[in-house]
Amino acid sequence: MRSPSTGVVEDFFSALFRTGRNGTSALAPVVEGLRMAQAFEHEPVMADEVVAAFGAVAPGVVVDGTVGAGGHAAAILAAHRHLGVLGLDRDPSAVAASLQRLQGFGARAKIRRAPFGAMGAEVAAASATPSGWPASGGRGHSVTGVLLDLGVSSPQLDRAERGFSYRRPARLDMRMDPSSALDAAQIVNNADVGELARMFAANGEVRLAGRIARAIVGARPIETTDELAAVVAAAVPAAVRRRGHPARRVFQALRITVNDELGQLATVLPVALELVAPGGRVAVISYHSGEDRLVKAAFAEAVAGGCTCPPGLPCVCGAEPEHRWVFRGARKPSAAEVERNRRAESARFRVVERLTDSGGDR
Ligand SMILES: C[S@@+](CC[C@H](N)C(=O)[O-])C[C@H]1O[C@@H](n2cnc3c(N)ncnc32)[C@H](O)[C@@H]1O
Repeated sequence: MRSPSTGVVEDFFSALFRTGRNGTSALAPVVEGLRMAQAFEHEPVMADEVVAAFGAVAPGVVVDGTVGAGGHAAAILAAHRHLGVLGLDRDPSAVAASLQRLQGFGARAKIRRAPFGAMGAEVAAASATPSGWPASGGRGHSVTGVLLDLGVSSPQLDRAERGFSYRRPARLDMRMDPSSALDAAQIVNNADVGELARMFAANGEVRLAGRIARAIVGARPIETTDELAAVVAAAVPAAVRRRGHPARRVFQALRITVNDELGQLATVLPVALELVAPGGRVAVISYHSGEDRLVKAAFAEAVAGGCTCPPGLPCVCGAEPEHRWVFRGARKPSAAEVERNRRAESARFRVVERLTDSGGDR
């Protein structure tokens, strides 16, 4: 609800998340990793495009399912005073960093430590609170946008002790949520050759996946990032090594598996499409083909609305699409952004909008 005096979205968050007398969130004391918050820096990718994507939506809440250091969330809140942000992240150091980054926005920004696969439950819990969750659109929907900026943050990659990087010696860990049971060392030391090879091919598009898997099984136990990187490098011919470090994609595949990244994404996409109010938008930045394939397929299905007619012919099957593309295809970062931030290079941005009851431009 918009305050006539301040123009700021109020009530809904102050009711949803108890705020302490000193203005700090009640969540703060239970967040681990606060000491790391200050050094948790991540440059948000395609921030102008993300901000523009939510400019047209009705007053309400944007659920940022990957709030990270809070860069996108801060940009959205600064540009759009009609919006609040509910930020989710499963990494406690990201939660601490975003709490700190967004505290200046007061009750308009709330952060929860949660996997985005639980977005439906997080929003339902918030909506169940007695007053204030905005029912924009009037059909019982309460969320006016969902943002997912997939993959890892810079601090996760850059902090050696997280065990994500083949460049930084550390114990093989790669958990975004340090309390989760499965880490990379367990997979590397327990999966059989077939399982490793299939995982490398599916989640990393690793060439010579079988050969690398056999080398890993032959070299076990492998406990550290540098041991694994050396085993992978030794398993491939020199010509392959000259094209870039062969461990890069192996590490990507392991990270995706440890964190069940594609499973989380497949779970949340239909939920996000259903959560947004009419006129609301779902925006996703993906960083590798496995992610982008899932996003494109889920969005295309939502836009088709279950239509079974042959492509290119008028629809006669009675399908009723509930979403439209905001723009066709995937947008990429500008050359200038990639020059400034190499980690933006593989970004692909897709956005769909939920149609209003009256239909609209499909
Ligand atoms: C690329 S960073 C996001 C950066 C953020 N947009 C910003 O501007 O600072 C991705 C973040 O998503 C989080 N993440 C990835 N998968 C997640 C999941 N399934 N549930 C919750 N958080 C997740 C990671 O912990 C990481 O902090």
